[in-house]
Amino acid sequence: MFKTLLTDLSDNIFTITINRPDKLNAINKTVMDELGLAVDEVYTNKDIRSAIITGAGQRAFVAGADISEFQGLTKEEGQALAAKGQNIFMRIASSPKPIAAAIHGFALGGGCELAMACHFRLCSPDAKFGQPEVNLGLIPGYGGTQRLTQLVGRGRAIEIMLSARLVEATEAHVMGLVNYIVEEPNELLTKTRELLSIINEKAPIAIARIIELANIAAGDGVAANGAGDDDNWEADPFGGGVSPTHSSAGRDAHGNARHVEHGGAGDGGGRPERGGGTSCGGFTREQEAFGECFATEDMKEGAAAFLAKRKPKFTGR
Ligand code: COA
Repeated sequence: MFKTLLTDLSDNIFTITINRPDKLNAINKTVMDELGLAVDEVYTNKDIRSAIITGAGQRAFVAGADISEFQGLTKEEGQALAAKGQNIFMRIASSPKPIAAAIHGFALGGGCELAMACHFRLCSPDAKFGQPEVNLGLIPGYGGTQRLTQLVGRGRAIEIMLSARLVEATEAHVMGLVNYIVEEPNELLTKTRELLSIINEKAPIAIARIIELANIAAGDGVAANGAGDDDNWEADPFGGGVSPTHSSAGRDAHGNARHVEHGGAGDGGGRPERGGGTSCGGFTREQEAFGECFATEDMKEGAAAFLAKRKPKFTGR
C-alpha cells in the first residue's frame, strides 16, 4: 500500500516503519506524504488503540529530512516544507491515541523531531540523537526548536542545536529526551509493545484527555494551522460543538468530536500557548475534562470495578 512505509496492526497496536534503509530512512516528500496518511489511519481506524513509529534496517531511526530535496528551494518553498512537516508532526503530537517512538541508531534532524513529536520515546543503547541542521546552514524546521526546548530545557537545547553534536542514548535518557533505554536492541519493539499494551487497557477517553492536557502544558496543545481534519466524526458524547480549526484536538480516541471552545491552548485564537503549564487555559481545561470523564461509561466502570475488586473493562464510551 505504501512505497516508503511498512505498516502492521496487531493486538490493537499499529506499527509504522519508515522503510528507506539505504538512505538511513531520510524523510523525503513521499515519506512525509505517506506518514500523514498513516497517521490519519491511527485517528480513524477503531481497531487501533496506540501506535509505534520506528525505522527499518540496523543503522537508523531516521537520519533527517532528505537533504537531496533541499537544493534549489526558494525561501517560500522552504517555509512551505516546514509548514507541511510541522502539520503532520503536530498531528502525531495531538493524536488522542498514544504514539510511541522506538529508536535505534541515528535520530537526526527531522528524525529527532519526529521522535520528539511522539508522546514518548524508547531507544536502544546505540541510539544517537541530534539536530545538525546548522551544519547545512539551516535550523530545525519540523518543530525541533520548540520540542527539544520543551523536553530538555533551553540551555541544553540551544547548546545541542548550535553545536550540532550527537547525543548518545545514556545522555538522552539523563536529560529526559527518552523515557527508557532498552538494553537488548532486539527487544526494543517488544518492550515498546509491552508498554503500549498496558496503556491500551486503560480508558481511551481519559487517555485522550491526558495527552491533550499535557500538550497544552507543553505549549503544544492544538493543531492550530490546518493539521488535518477527518470526516469520520461521530456524535459528541458530551454534547459539545467542535471548532473545525481545532482539528485533531477536537475528538477523542474513538474519533468522537468534542467540545474545544476553550481554544485548546487557552488563547481563544486557536494558537498553541507558550510558556508552559501554569496557564489558566490548561488548568481550566483540566477542570472541564475532569468533568467530562464523569459523563463516560468508562468512569462508571472503573469505579465499579475498583469497588468490586475486579479488573475494569473499558470500551471507550
Ligand atoms: N538526506 C539524504 N540522504 C541521506 C541523509 C539525509 N538526511 N542521511 C543519510 N543519507 C544517505 C547518504 O547520502 C547515503 O546515501 P548513498 O549511499 O546513496 O551515498 C546513505 O544515506 C548512507 O549515509 P552515509 O552518509 O554514507 O553514512 P555514514 O555512516 O557515513 O554517515 C550520518 C551517517 C548519519 C552521520 C550521515 O549520513 C549524515 O550526516 N546524514 C545527514 C544528517 C543530517 O544532517 N540530518 C539533518 C538533515 S536536515
